[in-house]
Amino acid sequence: MAQTFLILNGPNLNMLGTREPALYGVETLADIEAACTARGKALGIAIDFRQSNGEGELIDWIQSAPGRVAGIIINAGAYTHTSVAMHDALRAAALPVIEVHLSNVYAREAFRHHSYISPVARGIVVGFGPQGYTMAVEALYNLVGAGQARA
Ligand code: DQA
Repeated sequence: MAQTFLILNGPNLNMLGTREPALYGVETLADIEAACTARGKALGIAIDFRQSNGEGELIDWIQSAPGRVAGIIINAGAYTHTSVAMHDALRAAALPVIEVHLSNVYAREAFRHHSYISPVARGIVVGFGPQGYTMAVEALYNLVGAGQARA
């Protein structure tokens, strides 16, 4: 059976396309999901792509991930900078995690420079816009071993 990657998106990412397009671009979250699904399909990986504005719902999804998915790609939005609870949930899930941000958070306001996700992430993709998601799919694929079968 194909491996599954869980891709989680936090608050306000449902507004992509109309939200600060100068900063986040004009692609919608549905466009990003389609690109990830296509990349996953090419690699033989199923993509479970979700978004919530609620911290609790994101945590519920992280808690139900072990045993079901091979790894987690997460753009936690603003919860990145605030959520000890998401840090704890990801640590407890003990799955490989890739953190993604569309914008280069380190070139922005100081309050975006700290991440509660980074200490529990295997790698971070920051500042490449929507392309960062497909980069993360590729990176996770290589990380979980599936990529080793490739020439
Ligand atoms: C973001 C960066 C966060 O600081 C911000 O709160 C977001 C989006 C990004 O993808 O660049 O909602 O995670």
